[in-house]
Amino acid sequence: MAYLPQDARYDTMQYRRSGRSGLKLPAISLGIWYNFGGIDPLENCRAMLRRAFDLGITHIDIANNYGPPPGSAEETFGQIFRADFKQYRDELIVSNKAGYRMWAGPYGEWGSRKYLVASCDQSLKRTGLEYFDIFYSHRPDPETPLEETMSALDYIVRSGRALYAGISTYSPEQTRQAAHILKQLGTPCLIHQPRYNMFDRWIEDDGLVPVLAEEGIGCIAFSPLCQGILTNKYIDEVPGESRASKLSNRFHWGDSVTEQRIAKVRKLNSIALERGQTMAQLAIAWTLRLNVMTSALIGASRVAQIEDAVGALNNLAFSEAELQAIEAILAE
Ligand SMILES: NC(=O)c1ccc[n+]([C@@H]2O[C@H](COP(=O)([O-])OP(=O)(O)OC[C@H]3O[C@@H](n4cnc5c(N)ncnc54)[C@H](OP(=O)(O)O)[C@@H]3O)[C@@H](O)[C@H]2O)c1
Repeated sequence: MAYLPQDARYDTMQYRRSGRSGLKLPAISLGIWYNFGGIDPLENCRAMLRRAFDLGITHIDIANNYGPPPGSAEETFGQIFRADFKQYRDELIVSNKAGYRMWAGPYGEWGSRKYLVASCDQSLKRTGLEYFDIFYSHRPDPETPLEETMSALDYIVRSGRALYAGISTYSPEQTRQAAHILKQLGTPCLIHQPRYNMFDRWIEDDGLVPVLAEEGIGCIAFSPLCQGILTNKYIDEVPGESRASKLSNRFHWGDSVTEQRIAKVRKLNSIALERGQTMAQLAIAWTLRLNVMTSALIGASRVAQIEDAVGALNNLAFSEAELQAIEAILAE
């Protein structure tokens, strides 16, 4: 059936400015790292993208390697975009990235100009989009000069392939240098995409937060739910329909669902309940409490999870006592 977006789609979502740029992003964005690949049912992908847009989630985050297989999440998005969202292109912010291995040989990963431009062209083809709103260097390259990677981002923007440039998982020092180079080139760094959640606070510990504030760069936190651990999903057992059960032998997941973590989540969940929130909503609201935070970039395997996430916006304020109680649990 033809998709007609909800008229009320902009009524409740909050939009936050990305650093000192002109661009606002929804406080909650949807990433398609998992559950949108060639192995996933298309109808569920379509239902999630439609529901997200109906709830005011105007930002969809992609990367060249999302799937599985790599590239297939772009194809899924492209197929649904053409059918449902084409006439809403100007209401959407679609990001893409290059940095991880996409094809064989020395030009299929990292941060050379050769790889970034070729990968961006491939991604445009797979999604069928004319341009991306944000194009990221997905990870810093220890061998390629930062000037080359940043000038490739600048070129991608100047050539019309993307509107803004971003970086992901760059250290505070690399971020400062990248921001400086991009500024000189005339394409400011719009946004940084680091992992940030209650169990991974490197951006606070290593000093990325003040760098972003000083440089006027926005921040979009990926995995705010620690891939589902910071929800009520694993409080009792590892359910069959979960990322942990599907990926227990895959990289990235490792042994993240530990008894120690689940014990903390049980305690955090009682704070969530006192606040009238679900555990996922508490984790998202907590991520969004930082001044530099533009958006929490969630993943989802079903529509109800997207609805749950958006419910976080009903209570974003924290009392000092609540913040201290959370700190105490996390420090245990
Ligand atoms: N820049 C980078 O290097 C990088 C790296 C990783 C991710 N990202 C981006 O960040 C996005 C989000 O990452 P992520 O998927 O790890 O985020 P996440 O929000 O921490 O985890 C998403 C997973 O948590 C579970 N979940 C979500 N909402 C739930 C709820 N309300 N109740 C119970 N379980 C819930 C689902 O897992 P189940 O499948 O178990 O239901 C879902 O797939 C990615 O799609 C990608 O765009 C970027």
